[in-house]
Amino acid sequence: MATMPERVRITDVAPRDGLQNEPGFVPTASKAELVRAIAAAGVREVEVTSFVRPEWVPQLGDAAALCDLLAGHKPEGVRFSALVPNEKGLEGVLAANERAGMKLIDKVSVFAAASETFSRKNTNGSIAETIERFRPVVAGAQKHGLAVRGYVSCVVACPFEGPIEPFAVAAVATRLADLGIDEIDLGDTIGAGTGATFGRVLSTTLQALDEAHEWTDASRVTVHLHDTHGLAAECVRVALELGVRSFDGSVAGLGGCPFASTPERRAPGNISTEVLVREVERAGLRHDVDLEALGAAAALAQRLVSDSRLAEGSAS
Ligand code: HMG
Ligand code: MG
Repeated sequence: MATMPERVRITDVAPRDGLQNEPGFVPTASKAELVRAIAAAGVREVEVTSFVRPEWVPQLGDAAALCDLLAGHKPEGVRFSALVPNEKGLEGVLAANERAGMKLIDKVSVFAAASETFSRKNTNGSIAETIERFRPVVAGAQKHGLAVRGYVSCVVACPFEGPIEPFAVAAVATRLADLGIDEIDLGDTIGAGTGATFGRVLSTTLQALDEAHEWTDASRVTVHLHDTHGLAAECVRVALELGVRSFDGSVAGLGGCPFASTPERRAPGNISTEVLVREVERAGLRHDVDLEALGAAAALAQRLVSDSRLAEGSAS
């Protein structure tokens, strides 16, 4: 009997990573429409927003209101996640779930970096301090039955420090895994990786997680790429060869971290979910996405961003 090809888990991060760097405010109702369009395209996991300090990321300052709009419209079989930098962020998620009367947000994502400078610029704390901040977040999330993802940013290079050593990434990933989280997400924040450099980081980290925690299930490690030089698809192919079965994408390739931007260069967009799906198909693996409906979600994402840029331009 022929065995079914393996399924790849795709998380669309456009409503969070895609929008967080947009200077013009995207109305909350439009964000909810985008989340629904992505879910309607068969994407099984959507990172809907961040419960961070609104002064740091004003675009996502409507996280609570967005969750209230999404309540009652969560499609069957779809998981929603949200970024939380600390206990205050977790409180926001738990309050949203309480108001919704259901587990609207299924997963919280804490985020650390493999670069000290980026860690301070992004979260106002050292790598060690942020990991200590996450300890009560992980415990609180687990108490409420929420899954926890742990991002490691700057896995290939930092916009401020330059190249990052793979062992530094593996060390941060292992410290996050020590907290008892469910999943590690390796972020090439500025899209600096090639198949070779990203592959080295990935294999070093997979080996370290296996040695420290016997993490042999490769779907516990997610790959999060930004596509600065058009090499993200190559990195996906390398990751698939190394056995990774979970990837983040962003419809229409929106995205970028505001704290990864430098005066010379705005932070680059994420790999588009469309390209990601094509790579998964090319590898002969399964996914749940309907490409036509994804195209409609991508068109919506582009329209929202261009409307917000136009509104921002006419306001300034
Ligand atoms: P801080 O300024 O040091 O905050 O920021 P604090 O702990 O000193 O608290 C100061 C005030 O902020 C207090 O209020 C807190 O209650 C409030 P006050 O007493 O003055 O009235 N506060 C909060 N309010 C709402 N929500 C919260 C929260 N926490 C404190 N969660 C902090 C520290 C971590 C909060 C800040 O640095 C922050 O919010 N950073 C988020 C930055 C961010 O979202 N970056 C983008 C995401 S990371 C990324 O894009 C990379 C990724 O895509 C992967 C990749 O590509 O590599 C994930
Ligand atoms: Mg990112």
